[in-house]
Amino acid sequence: MTIFACVNTKGGVGKTTTAVHLAVMLARQQRSLLIDGDPQASAASWAAWRRERIDGAPSPTTVCLSGKAIITEGKPLAQGYVHVVVDAGGRDSVGLRSALLLAEYAIIPVGASQLDAAALTDVMTVVDLARDYNPNLDVRILLTRVDPRTKDAADMLVFLKSQNLVVLNTMICERVAFRRAIGEGATVHEIGKDHLAISEVEAFFQEVVA
Ligand SMILES: Nc1ncnc2c1ncn2[C@@H]1O[C@H](COP(=O)(O)OP(=O)(O)O)[C@@H](O)[C@H]1O
Ligand SMILES: [Mg+2]
Repeated sequence: MTIFACVNTKGGVGKTTTAVHLAVMLARQQRSLLIDGDPQASAASWAAWRRERIDGAPSPTTVCLSGKAIITEGKPLAQGYVHVVVDAGGRDSVGLRSALLLAEYAIIPVGASQLDAAALTDVMTVVDLARDYNPNLDVRILLTRVDPRTKDAADMLVFLKSQNLVVLNTMICERVAFRRAIGEGATVHEIGKDHLAISEVEAFFQEVVA
């Protein structure tokens, strides 16, 4: 069993997009649980839209947990599943800290901008605290919403390496298919139109399950 958490104290970076794609890709293989730990409940909205699709595609079981319950209830719940993905809220909160205590593998989606770079200090402070109690926590940065026409991602990579952060090789670009998929309770695979988006999430998946 692996418990993943998609975390960042910053909002709008792609945590929910990453979490739902990961949860569905895991659900294609084995019983998976998606814990929506964000009070804004975006993953739960996605799951509700997904239930309306009635196409029988493999899906994770989705539950909403808040604050400390992410660990106190999340831990026993996780026992019934092979894989668990937590979509954590976008600010420093009890929920985010609980997600980092429950997780074995933290994925930190970050955009490639000065603001994202500046905001990283906040999330890394929380991650470092969590490591005191969860020393085996594996932490990886995922560059998301990248504009491939600019050198922003290359600049961001230099910065991330200078901070000794572990960065996944796969980058997720800004693509309409990602936005559309979430609104339809789907994944980019199920939308099926954007092959580049599909290859990016598949490459990401291979990297994190390897
Ligand atoms: N790779 C992407 N390409 C295009 N839009 C994206 C991408 N990732 C996220 N978005 C959009 O950006 C917004 C924030 O993404 P979301 O996954 O909800 O971030 P978070 O959970 O970190 O707040 C949403 O409207 C989402 O559809
Ligand atoms: Mg979200």
